[in-house]
Amino acid sequence: MQLNAPLDMHLHLRDGEMLEKIAKSSAETFSGAIIMPNLVPPVSTKEEVVAYRQRIEKAIGKETFTPYMTLFFKPSYDKAFLESIKDEITAIKLYPAGITTNSEGGVSGFDVEELRPALEAMSELNIPLCVHGETNGFVMDREAEFASIYERLATAFPKLKIIMEHITTKSSVDLLDKFENLYASITIHHLLITLDDVAGGMLKPHLFCKPIAKRPEDRDALLKVALAAHPKVMFGSDSAPHPKHAKEACGCAAGVFTSPIALQLLAELFDNNNASVENLQAFVSGNAQNIYDISVPNKTVFLEKTPFKVPSDYNGVVPMYADEEIAYSITKVENN
Ligand code: NCD
Ligand code: ZN
Repeated sequence: MQLNAPLDMHLHLRDGEMLEKIAKSSAETFSGAIIMPNLVPPVSTKEEVVAYRQRIEKAIGKETFTPYMTLFFKPSYDKAFLESIKDEITAIKLYPAGITTNSEGGVSGFDVEELRPALEAMSELNIPLCVHGETNGFVMDREAEFASIYERLATAFPKLKIIMEHITTKSSVDLLDKFENLYASITIHHLLITLDDVAGGMLKPHLFCKPIAKRPEDRDALLKVALAAHPKVMFGSDSAPHPKHAKEACGCAAGVFTSPIALQLLAELFDNNNASVENLQAFVSGNAQNIYDISVPNKTVFLEKTPFKVPSDYNGVVPMYADEEIAYSITKVENN
């Protein structure tokens, strides 16, 4: 099997030492990725975006890989600021305040009038809004409760492209066909696991993330649109590395590290479900190119159905399925 120009439309590359350790695991096999801005402090000025991109480019070295940069949403962004930064970014990411790692400076209340100046300017400038859609409610219901906020935003800003990030519930899937301007990214782990895998037996810290994996019927709804390559969904790993000591701790950091095995797992998943390579190609590249209207550097990844033993760690970061065998291996990558 071969995949052309794979894209990861939701990726945490971190900064400093962690960036140096993990950047290549995405850059070697993906053509590009949407880079999340939740650094400390979050990426929120032009200087910060430019400097972060340069640090990423340095960390990926000679690999062919485009970091599609994002900014951390603040209601105070005005049109002049957004115009000045437009060419440096591909999207802006909105976090509800305190909902996940490094999101303390995010939005609370979701008052449309408070958000209107920034969101209308984004809409006019054609800058997509990526959203972490969870409320502060009961953990299993947070995303479903956020549906009414998605509806409110999609209705109030009909020309704004809104991407529901890392969706995990049937309620989010159902919104895709209700609102023309709603799109979604889906991770590989939410296509594979449910809450049972995280906490049904021995607790698995390396499968703990936000949003938490949900019920079988939710996973089935995600699988249905991903395997069919629904044109409004695209792959976004939400690969979110944390140091081993922060995961294997009392007080485990949220995030699953999947970037080095994401394409192999996708190949296995589509194969097991008799879904076509064409659909996988659309899910992992074509749909994202259409949704974001981006040009992408070429790269061809060759995969084979040969077992691959997932390493226990990548430079000290423990991946999903560490020490386990997965069905597909990457045999070659051509940059062309
Ligand atoms: C992400 C992180 O660690 O930055 N964690 C996660 O569980 N997914 C943040 C996020 O996307 O929520
Ligand atoms: Zn994320």
